[in-house]
Amino acid sequence: MRIPVIAGNWKLFKTIGESVALVDDLKPLVANIHGVEIVVAPVFTALSRVCDVVKGSNVLLAAQDCYWEEEGAFTGEVAPRLLKDAGCSHVIIGHSERRQYFGETDLSVNKKTKAAIAAGLTAIVCVGELLADREAGQTFSVIEAQIQGGLAGLEANSLRHVIVAYEPVWAIGTGKTASDAQAQEVHAFIRQLIVSLFNQSVADAVRILYGGSVKPDNVKGLMSQPDIDGALVGGASLKAESFAAIVGFDS
Ligand code: PGA
Repeated sequence: MRIPVIAGNWKLFKTIGESVALVDDLKPLVANIHGVEIVVAPVFTALSRVCDVVKGSNVLLAAQDCYWEEEGAFTGEVAPRLLKDAGCSHVIIGHSERRQYFGETDLSVNKKTKAAIAAGLTAIVCVGELLADREAGQTFSVIEAQIQGGLAGLEANSLRHVIVAYEPVWAIGTGKTASDAQAQEVHAFIRQLIVSLFNQSVADAVRILYGGSVKPDNVKGLMSQPDIDGALVGGASLKAESFAAIVGFDS
């Protein structure tokens, strides 16, 4: 019932030319894969050129961040409507690297999420615990605070434009993946939280992605879990073959 989403987060990698080449390689590899929402998130400077290349294909475009104001004296920021203008349908918000290095908070995640939805984008809202949180037995309380704060004040209707990404920080870029059971446990917890914050039908419909060292050889196990609806992929999205293999987890 929930259409799976496989999203590639290219982070701070690739020039415009390299981004175009990657998506050019990717398109034919995924052209025959149906029933999966395929998203790539290049750096800002490559968005509009990549948009030209993916037009008419089954590959959708995301930005890696946005600001919450529509315009104004906000040097260096990019508004959701400008992302839309550049061809984006999605935007990643609150990635752990932004929380860790750029002062992103649940409050800024919340403002950005609302602004993104208002501009007609789908927000991929990221949450995840640190290793220290997990070791202290605080995974669920950390996730609860991030979900509550990040989605505060949203109408139940708006959740149609939200995808949640659970990315345990200790699994990002480390080669350590959460086990299928560890990921499923948190995904089920997030879905229950969404029942209590919104309602059952919203929770049944919302896609919850797993992220953190997702690779072609572990995606199948993760995707077989009942509450895992897709993946947010970093490292393995930088090569067309490995990303296409993840997108084709079901084939
Ligand atoms: P990774 O990154 O797949 O390289 O662990 C995931 C992410 O940061 O979204």
